Amino acid sequence: MIYTNKLTFQNLINMRRILVIGAAGQIGSELVPFLRNKYGNDNVIATGRKTPLPDVIKKSGPVIYLDALERNTLSRVFYEYDIDTIFHMASILSATGEKMPQTAWDINMNGLINILETSRRYNIKTIVWPSSIAAFGPTTPRENTPNTTVLQPTTMYGITKVAGELLAEYYYKKYGLDIRSMRLPGIISSETLPGGGTTDYAVEIFYEAIKNMKYTCFLKENTVLPMMYMPDCLKSMIDLLEADNSKLKRRVYNITGMSFSAGEIAAEIKKYIPQFEIDYKPDFREEIADSWPKSIDDSLAREEWNWNPSYDLASMTKDMIDILSKRL
Ligand code: SER
Repeated sequence: MIYTNKLTFQNLINMRRILVIGAAGQIGSELVPFLRNKYGNDNVIATGRKTPLPDVIKKSGPVIYLDALERNTLSRVFYEYDIDTIFHMASILSATGEKMPQTAWDINMNGLINILETSRRYNIKTIVWPSSIAAFGPTTPRENTPNTTVLQPTTMYGITKVAGELLAEYYYKKYGLDIRSMRLPGIISSETLPGGGTTDYAVEIFYEAIKNMKYTCFLKENTVLPMMYMPDCLKSMIDLLEADNSKLKRRVYNITGMSFSAGEIAAEIKKYIPQFEIDYKPDFREEIADSWPKSIDDSLAREEWNWNPSYDLASMTKDMIDILSKRL
């Protein structure tokens, strides 16, 4: 089947053949349309495994079943589809990872190493793989956390992110495999709900505020975490992908959009929905949040690839409420 969309001259000179692994997830489901718009529908192959892919992805371009744990299948897909660029987005997040640490290790680590090993054999030009603020732990400075600092996470998810970051540096040095990574904070988005993370409350709160005007938060009122709105997250991925490699002095970058507590986002939502009420029943996720930074120093990303987010708490909240109140 041929899927067409308008390609500009710029699209044609930047042509890539992109594989998105984990296209049904919170980020993947918005990343695929974003990439298709930039690189052409036919050039972005969306893959999934368990979760059904959204219709917009199925109708606009190629879709295949892919389990990153099967190395042979990966080779076949890279070969048959002439892949040169990979976004590896499939991962078990922090809260689910604490419920099933062995599964988190298996999926996060084996998926990544299979992709790295297969990539070095198939001329893959660039791999984008997100790390996370979960790579940090209780011994890391929590305010304005620097790019290079102590990495002693206390969650299985965080452990897989640190190991993944080390693999990224290793495969780059040893094989010249160009893997690029950003440590994502909590991602807030209006299209697909996140699943199994500690920062998920910052998305759920909007749905509950609009539908029921009430939300019970699983973190404490004053727990501050770094966050980012989806348009900035997508921008970071393309900007890092397209950055000139000679300017990149490392494989892994801190990035952030904003920092806020549950109480602060609730107050911002109340400006639009004055009847909104929130209460707090912290659960096991509070301990995870307490081990992560409150704010992130992303100056190296700004210097080396011009990272520059657009959204703060106020503009993100306004946009989320606009979009979700129309839809819900
Ligand atoms: N959003 C993720 C989580 O909460 C952090 O990378 O697990």
